[in-house]
Amino acid sequence: MTQSHTMRVIEISKPGGPEVLVPAERAVPVPGAGEIVIRVAYAGVNRPDALQRAGSYAPPPGASDLPGLEASGVVVALGAGVTRWRIGDEVCALLPGGGYAEYVATPAAHALPVPAGLGLRAAACLPETFFTVWTNVFDRGRLQAGERFLIHGGTSGIGTTAIQLAAARGARVFATAGSDDKCQACLDLGAERAINYRNEDFVAAMRAEGGADLILDMVGGDYLPRNVKALADDGRLVQIAFLSGPSVELNFAQVMVRRLTITGSTLRPRSVAAKAAIARALEAEVWPLLATGRVAPVIDSEFPLDEAAAAHARLETSAHIGKIVLKVSG
Ligand SMILES: NC(=O)c1ccc[n+]([C@@H]2O[C@H](COP(=O)([O-])OP(=O)(O)OC[C@H]3O[C@@H](n4cnc5c(N)ncnc54)[C@H](OP(=O)(O)O)[C@@H]3O)[C@@H](O)[C@H]2O)c1
Repeated sequence: MTQSHTMRVIEISKPGGPEVLVPAERAVPVPGAGEIVIRVAYAGVNRPDALQRAGSYAPPPGASDLPGLEASGVVVALGAGVTRWRIGDEVCALLPGGGYAEYVATPAAHALPVPAGLGLRAAACLPETFFTVWTNVFDRGRLQAGERFLIHGGTSGIGTTAIQLAAARGARVFATAGSDDKCQACLDLGAERAINYRNEDFVAAMRAEGGADLILDMVGGDYLPRNVKALADDGRLVQIAFLSGPSVELNFAQVMVRRLTITGSTLRPRSVAAKAAIARALEAEVWPLLATGRVAPVIDSEFPLDEAAAAHARLETSAHIGKIVLKVSG
């Protein structure tokens, strides 16, 4: 399968800042039943990797302790029962962990073909945000064409994906971001209105539009009561993170009187079968949009694997627009 039984990886040496990410050697993984091993070309960097590195987001039981939730590359080994893939196939895949490495194992059902014309670098930036946006915005949030959809963190990896997918499926997209340049990027991606939250109140902006039918939020904290105010009657709020904290005082009378729904989910602990179902929905509904170029990942910057610490430092400045990617091989 490989030239050597060891591989270069990036380990979290101890909980802390970006500097705790250090190069190391590990054994090349062996595929279990239903798994494939990928020789990694590129690995996507996501905010949950930084939370794991800081010690506030432990990997689920059985997952690799190495960071990295998505990668692209070439299939080099097949576990028992795998029929979908062949050795040599180019794929991108959602990972239980371990993407910051030359090789990674993952359930075969969590891999997808590299969309036509996209290439391995862009494909590495797809799985974590596209799985998350699909399941939270379209499954859980039930976004329909014509609805008003507010996305917080519009230029995050998640935000740039949500804006494009929602616009492509006919929703009216609104986004918040922390600078005028970031707001312009949201407009360029398909938002009809971008709100710089540093000098404009998103609640007033959305009330002026009649309220949001759906809000995707990663901020939490005092955004929770403000999101409730920004929703239209029968509106839905989907919470995917709490960058400003999970605890807040909220008057639930508005939830009852205006028939609001507050929900949320985390992708990583969901079952292999649940993630496989999301993969199949993406392949049917979204991969054609990627192949035509109607939707494309926004790539902020690329770092070599050994400079993963610098990639995390950039992520945590929040200066980036879209995704940060690590070049591993190729
Ligand atoms: N639930 C799930 O399954 C799931 C899956 C993947 C990711 N997530 C979560 O989704 C969020 C986005 O992930 P990502 O990888 O796309 O992140 P990202 O690219 O690092 O972007 C996060 C953005 O959030 C904005 N932000 C607003 N308030 C913030 C605060 N208090 N602290 C830090 N940033 C703040 C920043 O933009 P501004 O400068 O515009 O404020 C920042 O650029 C993360 O919180 C992540 O943990 C959840």
